Amino acid sequence: MNSLTPTFHIRIDRRRLLHSLLLATGGIITSSVYAEALTLTPRATEGPYYPDHLPLDQDNDLLQIQGKATQAIGTVAEFGGRLLNADGQPIQDAVIELWQADNNGCYIHSRGTQRGQERDPAFQGYGKIVTNAKGEYRFRTIKPGLYTGRTIHWHIAVKQGDKRMLTTQLYIAGVPQNDKDGILRRTGDEAQRLSVIREFKPKSADSQELVSTWDIVIGSTPEDPEQRRGGGRPGGPQ
Ligand SMILES: [Fe+2]
Repeated sequence: MNSLTPTFHIRIDRRRLLHSLLLATGGIITSSVYAEALTLTPRATEGPYYPDHLPLDQDNDLLQIQGKATQAIGTVAEFGGRLLNADGQPIQDAVIELWQADNNGCYIHSRGTQRGQERDPAFQGYGKIVTNAKGEYRFRTIKPGLYTGRTIHWHIAVKQGDKRMLTTQLYIAGVPQNDKDGILRRTGDEAQRLSVIREFKPKSADSQELVSTWDIVIGSTPEDPEQRRGGGRPGGPQ
């Protein structure tokens, strides 16, 4: 599944944006301020589990590995949104990568199996998508498993050409471990931190599947690879 569904719409949280603008400007908003007001998505450490062997199937549906009959174990979670620059313009033809723990907290990395756990062989563990003309992207996956020392999180990277523009992590609002997560607490300023903690809601009243939207906002400066590796305790869980 590589194509974006035509009915996919992105909700922009204008109310939150306006609220933060009002705070920042003392209530005076001009169009030029408004145009430059998007909060940059904060950088966060890549952690130790970016796949050291990429899977053959790298599409944006991590639930299903091509050619396998079974689907990944776990709570289905979908998210998507737009990739924007700081002026709110969509960025086309960028690659958004996602890697994450399976339902048992294990990554597809060769050292990514948590103690006493087994990897779910049906989970793809890594996927990517190219943003379309509207900057849109979308992933269908599972809610990541919890593992010792971290809260639930997805790892995300954005590439333009051969340049890594952003490495970050995405979180689910209301997860109790969020408050104590060292990496989340050190991520960005408060507005930036809030921008990577998203509400995931049931897809419909009778659905077990979760869905959320998340717009990613990047600046024009490629990432410093040293910064990518920093941000977490050396040798600590990431
Ligand atoms: Fe991680």
